[in-house]
Amino acid sequence: MARRKFVAGNWKLNLTIAEGTALVQGLAKALADKPTTAEVAVCPVALALNAVAQAAKGSPIGVGAQNIHWEEKGAFTGELSATLIKDAGATYVILGHSERRQYFGETDATVNKRLGAALKAGLVPIVCIGETLAERQGGKLEQVLSTQIKGALAGFTAEQLKTLVVAYEPVWAIGTGVTATTAQAQETHAFVRSVLRQVVGGLADEIRIQYGGSVKPDNAKEILSQPDVDGALVGGASLKVADFAAIIAGA
Ligand code: PGA
Repeated sequence: MARRKFVAGNWKLNLTIAEGTALVQGLAKALADKPTTAEVAVCPVALALNAVAQAAKGSPIGVGAQNIHWEEKGAFTGELSATLIKDAGATYVILGHSERRQYFGETDATVNKRLGAALKAGLVPIVCIGETLAERQGGKLEQVLSTQIKGALAGFTAEQLKTLVVAYEPVWAIGTGVTATTAQAQETHAFVRSVLRQVVGGLADEIRIQYGGSVKPDNAKEILSQPDVDGALVGGASLKVADFAAIIAGA
């Protein structure tokens, strides 16, 4: 089955509500001028999610959150639930981004719990995995990715994981300007799919695997042309309409 390419922008902790709204309006205009067959989403800070979702209405752009807590409600100061995010207009949620793993104590076990909440609320989860440079150079690439995938997906059936999107983001490529080579990306994506096949069987051929890490207009088309690269999760370059639109055009 052909997998529809999926390009998502991860705005991280950038842009005010007004700036985010303006960006999505600009992007909607760019996509109206140059329609795409790809699925497109932007993931603003949670506080801007509702305004951005309102501004994106009537356009093909979906909106996602950058994280959620696994509990529905209660004494969890500072947290946001899947249902709240959905209520605010989100269709997607990024889970287990390497910055959350690096700075906020995210583990495969907590990604697994968040995934449960996302699926229960009907959000499309974008589960991020990726190795550090030391892990790749130390020959641990496959072990690290396999552990991350199996840990995140533990306990779910293929039926439950029908909407799953995986983002392969080598940590050494995020925000560094260094991208994986096209061959590295394809090889690793094929490996990720083989691990997914062990976990969810034939569904692995339908799961979109995005590449992330310094995707720019000048490298997007080549990376996205690889058979197992089904889209991109874009950080820095998603903050400018022209750059993000050019990446989408490359898909
Ligand atoms: P980058 O970020 O495109 O700025 O490298 C990607 C990501 O962290 O999702």
